[in-house]
Amino acid sequence: MPEREWILLNPGPANTTRSVREALVMPDLCHREPEFFEMMRECRQRLTRLAACTERFAAVLFTGSGTAAVEAVVCSAVARDRALLIVNNGVYGDRLARIARAHGIPSEVLSYDFTTPVAPTDVEAALRARPELSHVAVVHHETTTGLLNPVMDVARVAARAGRRVLIDAMSSLFGERLDVDADGVDFVMASANKCLQGIAGIAFVLGRRSALDALAGRLPRSVYLDLHGHYATQERDNTPFTPAVQVLHAMRQALVELEAEGVASRIARYAENARVLRHGMTALGFEILVPEGARSNILTTFRLLPGLAYDPLHDAMKRRGYVIYAGQGDIRTYAFRVSNMGTLTPRDMEGVVEAFRASLAELAVGVRL
Ligand SMILES: Cc1ncc(COP(=O)(O)O)c(C=O)c1O
Repeated sequence: MPEREWILLNPGPANTTRSVREALVMPDLCHREPEFFEMMRECRQRLTRLAACTERFAAVLFTGSGTAAVEAVVCSAVARDRALLIVNNGVYGDRLARIARAHGIPSEVLSYDFTTPVAPTDVEAALRARPELSHVAVVHHETTTGLLNPVMDVARVAARAGRRVLIDAMSSLFGERLDVDADGVDFVMASANKCLQGIAGIAFVLGRRSALDALAGRLPRSVYLDLHGHYATQERDNTPFTPAVQVLHAMRQALVELEAEGVASRIARYAENARVLRHGMTALGFEILVPEGARSNILTTFRLLPGLAYDPLHDAMKRRGYVIYAGQGDIRTYAFRVSNMGTLTPRDMEGVVEAFRASLAELAVGVRL
């Protein structure tokens, strides 16, 4: 373990407060005792309250990484005689398509390059052409690049066409504005360890109750990831499998802290973090991959400078206490990612820029700055 805390610039698990980490240490607790059910109920209620969707939505918890929630929704929402329209403009859009394929769900994929947001008119046309497409799956914030998809516009065209939308908001829920209860939206998937600032190990679905209830009686495609099974059991104050008790306890603390900060204030803090970072990095000569207008306030992909490779930059930053994140796939060869989620403040982001400046100076041998 490092002697001092790393500043994590990867898009989750993010830096957490000491109180969240300390919440992992608690009295041993059986997951079939009232004390656990009370904690689970509180977490589920806090989630829908903070997401401003209490009236019509329920939170369904899964023990697993974020993909557990995504896969549970994809493999549960689409009926056996229907198909799924998937937006793919990054690794996580591609993952939606892989999940659909793995479960034998007929799908159509709308593909864009990694820096182009979905055009809602394309969704509209695809839905018009194929009546069997019952749902649209789209990633809100493509963590591959920091690209934001206009999911509310997608929901609008889907609702107009009588279809429902599944939103992977893994790295944006509570970090970007999102109207979970918007017309057309049935399911939103996220996890404890990103903008919620909890510990990795719990994923969750915010599901419209009418859509969750409609799944009753369907033969599930998965046993562990049966969305209705988890929902129905949790509604009865029980749990179908053994949950990560301590991680949930830390999530409860993270929810309390999110409420104290306020969702709007957290979103504003992240936006200011991104502004400070981008201003400083641009001054150092770094270019941002995603065009203005399509960028999130949570993650930035910067092009590597000529002659500067990712690995030495990563190591120079890490020596200074900062952990940056490689680009996914091919992007790794020409760009890298810096996230500003977690407990980081604009002041921390000034430190990040200073660390880049010092790292560039250290690596300057052979680097054309
Ligand atoms: C957009 C998005 N979807 C899904 C995931 C889930 O990934 P994991 O299962 O590793 O938590 C992530 C994680 O980074 C993500 O950014």
